[in-house]
This record gives sequence, C-alpha cells and structure tokens, in this order.
Amino acid sequence: MRTNRTFTMIKPDGVANNHIGAILNDITTAGFKIVAMKYTQLSTDLAGKFYAVHAERPFYKDLVAFMSSGPIVAAILEKDNAVADFRTLIGATDPAKADVGTLRNKYAQSIDANTVHGSDSDENAEIEGAFYFTAFERF
Ligand code: CMP
Repeated sequence: MRTNRTFTMIKPDGVANNHIGAILNDITTAGFKIVAMKYTQLSTDLAGKFYAVHAERPFYKDLVAFMSSGPIVAAILEKDNAVADFRTLIGATDPAKADVGTLRNKYAQSIDANTVHGSDSDENAEIEGAFYFTAFERF
C-alpha cells in the first residue's frame, strides 16, 4: 500500500461558496501534488455508502443529506507523510476548534459544513480513492 497518498473532497459548502480555486491553491502551495481529480455530485445512496462507517452515529442522516446536496471535488493527493500532513493542513473536524490558517479555519462554517475531507489512515486513503477513481485514473 502507498504511504504517500491521501484522498480529499472539497465538500458542497466549499464548492457553493466558490472556494475551489483558493483551496486547491492552498493544497498545492503546501506541497501536495494532485494525481487525480473529479468534479461530481454524490447521490444519497453513494453518500450513504461512502460514509457507511458512520452509519450508527447520530449525525449520519444529516451527513448523507449534506454531502449529496450539491457538487463536490474529489481528489487524490501525493506527498511524503500525506495523510498526517493533510490532516494538519485542514485542521480539526469542528472549524471552531481548527487552528488559525488551516483550511477549515479559513473556509468552513460548522462541523457539518466543514468544507474539506481528509482520509484518516493510509488504508482509508486507498479505499476512498478507489471509491471515486478507477485503477486507470489513479495510477
Ligand atoms: P469528515 O471527517 O470529513 O467525515 C465525517 C463527517 O461527519 C465529518 O467530517 C463532519 O463533517 C461530520 N460530523 C458531523 N458531526 C460530527 C461529530 N459530532 N463528530 C465527527 N464528525 C461529525
């Protein structure tokens, strides 16, 4: 398994608020290389599958509704120590707790509309990347 890749989404709020360009610029300025990227929208069925790990959590229904509410940008990013470094770049899940200068501090409004997703492990980066991209698209 690759240890130098992570998976990200710019969530519906980030797209709706016209932050795609600024966020991609922050990501590449921080040293991440974009190796796959897609502008798309999840159906509720696909959002439910992507977040199946959270199916028992009280926020699952709202999460699925929000993540299927508008277009998103999905991408695979490459950098040494990608998973940990990207989670540092995006900041805490709750934007109110995110360090100044992190993506969620700069662009997000709430724990639901927290603008950017980042994989939490190399295993999940692989699974999440494969959810959106074929093997040919994520060579
Ligand atoms: P993310 O880590 O990208 O994927 C799961 C999402 O669930 C998380 O971002 C939040 O946007 C959302 N969420 C809503 N409430 C909570 C909560 N209490 N704890 C963790 N995640 C939450």
